[in-house]
Amino acid sequence: MHKTICETLIFDVKESAVAPLVLAEAARILAGGGLVAFPTETVYGLGANALDAQAVQKIYLAKGRPSDNPLIVHINEVAQLQELAREIPPEAERLARHFWPGPLTLVLKKQAAVPDVVTGAMDSVAVRMPAHPVALALLRASGRPIAAPSANLAGRPSPSTAQHVIDDLAGRIDAVLDGGSCAVGVESTILDIRGGCPLLLRPGGVTPQEISDVLGKKCLQVLWQENGGTAPPSPGLKYVHYAPQAPLYLVLGPQEKLAVKIAYLRDTFQRRGKHVALLLSRELAFELGGDRVEILGSRGNQAELAANLYRALRRLDKSSAELIIAEGYSETGLALAVMDRLKKAAGSRVLVVE
Ligand code: TXA
Ligand code: MG
Repeated sequence: MHKTICETLIFDVKESAVAPLVLAEAARILAGGGLVAFPTETVYGLGANALDAQAVQKIYLAKGRPSDNPLIVHINEVAQLQELAREIPPEAERLARHFWPGPLTLVLKKQAAVPDVVTGAMDSVAVRMPAHPVALALLRASGRPIAAPSANLAGRPSPSTAQHVIDDLAGRIDAVLDGGSCAVGVESTILDIRGGCPLLLRPGGVTPQEISDVLGKKCLQVLWQENGGTAPPSPGLKYVHYAPQAPLYLVLGPQEKLAVKIAYLRDTFQRRGKHVALLLSRELAFELGGDRVEILGSRGNQAELAANLYRALRRLDKSSAELIIAEGYSETGLALAVMDRLKKAAGSRVLVVE
């Protein structure tokens, strides 16, 4: 389907014994301006040397990503923040010391050394330290900050396994490090911390509550809608994210009423001859029965819902479903990030049960 421009090497790094040689090879590819996909605790990233503008340019080409949608720069030591960002407020340092390595990205004023291609020519830069041992080892081996968006084709769900990366990018990138499934499963939380005031630009693996607990002040979540006027606070907000091939209906409301509503919707569409698939918690799947059900996990286990989200969405895209009905969850904790991605997948097809 895609044009093959190079052979993609696939390295298994689940066994630590082989890792040093592989890491040296991956670092060599990065130093030569190549692209290496690697596991992080959130999703797989597609990495290039962040200080090499030509290498970073290749990321946009491989993904089919608009060039004004900037990338996150990954580091393995807090001290590296100085070479990427200027004016680091004490709040940013406190958050970095508390949550790094981990799924929190900080937006700060950028240093001139960061190429425009990384930041979409903005005067800010997004930085995080990933918590996956392979990501940290790759950063150490390469000795440079690594710019990396999620390693999927633009418009597809983020990859939570190496196979997802291969499905999207084989033949377009130099190498994939297969470190198994990503534990968190949704992307990092993005926080604009310039001036010390925490603005939540994307909910993710660290919850707003956890951030407020550390800072002793509330995060403001930025809700932005395309209205032809203002620019979005994060360029990523203006792009249609993943939208499944089949229309997805997201059903929200009190738990005890969801089963009846979802069964009613499913039966209605099935009578119209549609192949309907359901995306449910284990509890609701048990209540509703039937085949063509993707289970995200237990309602009470938000980490499980997040970890399985992208795998389930990718499976639905591969299935024959012509229509998807998804259960909504209360927007607390990690489920805030899950609901953010489900709402984006649903677009305006959100049904609220009273
Ligand atoms: O968990 C993650 O964050 C993963 C792993 C690989 O680290 N990365 C990831 O990258 O999700 P990506 O490119 O898929 O999403 C990065 C988002 C985009 O929506 C982009 O607009 C936003 O970060 N972003 C990057 N730089 C920014 C900046 N300076 N200001 C505001 N938003 C920024
Ligand atoms: Mg992405």
